[in-house]
Amino acid sequence: MADHAATHSYASSIPWWLQPAATVGILTGFVVYSIWVAFQGRGYVAPYLSPFYSPPVTVASIPISPAWWVLWIPAGFRATCYYYRKAYYRSYFLDPVACMMPESRRHYAGETAFPFILNNLHRFLLYGAVVVLAFLWWDAIRAFVFDGGFGVHLGSLLFLANVLLLSGYTFGCHAFRHLVGGNLDCYSCAAAGRLRHRLWGWVTPYNLHHARWAWASLFSVSAVDIYLRLLMARAITDPRLF
Ligand code: FES
Repeated sequence: MADHAATHSYASSIPWWLQPAATVGILTGFVVYSIWVAFQGRGYVAPYLSPFYSPPVTVASIPISPAWWVLWIPAGFRATCYYYRKAYYRSYFLDPVACMMPESRRHYAGETAFPFILNNLHRFLLYGAVVVLAFLWWDAIRAFVFDGGFGVHLGSLLFLANVLLLSGYTFGCHAFRHLVGGNLDCYSCAAAGRLRHRLWGWVTPYNLHHARWAWASLFSVSAVDIYLRLLMARAITDPRLF
């Protein structure tokens, strides 16, 4: 009881606007950073390839930064994510700012009109994000190869942590959970029902903490790229651990 009262008084001492303001600040900062990175036109220092530039795609006849060919997939995947939608509707549009608060719009049209109807593309962006994730796993494995031999540097561990967090985020996706175990009334009556039930059980814990995976992977992607750019600028060295 005392704990509950202490928690309640601590929570009520935090200004209500702090959470939406922090969400706006962090998401806006990430979008600005991503655009800046894409305009740099390069993101590689052996053996590390920036997650903003993977897979590396170039089209000789269209001389733009390779990042633009790829970035729209993870960007679209995050922008249409069910969790991020809740976060940015509440924080950018105050729509509504919290539970039990009235809608700021008179006529709520849901996601049936442009541009928010595009959020329905989420399940298709998921397929693209899984392909990109496969390349990121390959990059994380290559981050342990130095001059043809196995090695562990600080950057190797950062790349591994990043791809693990991105996997937790991607496979905890609501659309992925529906894909493997949804739209069924009875697992034991369905084709491959046992396998689907097992996959559904595997995905559900990640799905329950989807918001945490979303934030953690957002920070890890940025951290890996910042680390790589500091290496490219020779501002730091990459310590070898093994
Ligand atoms: Fe968040 Fe699909 S619901 S990634």
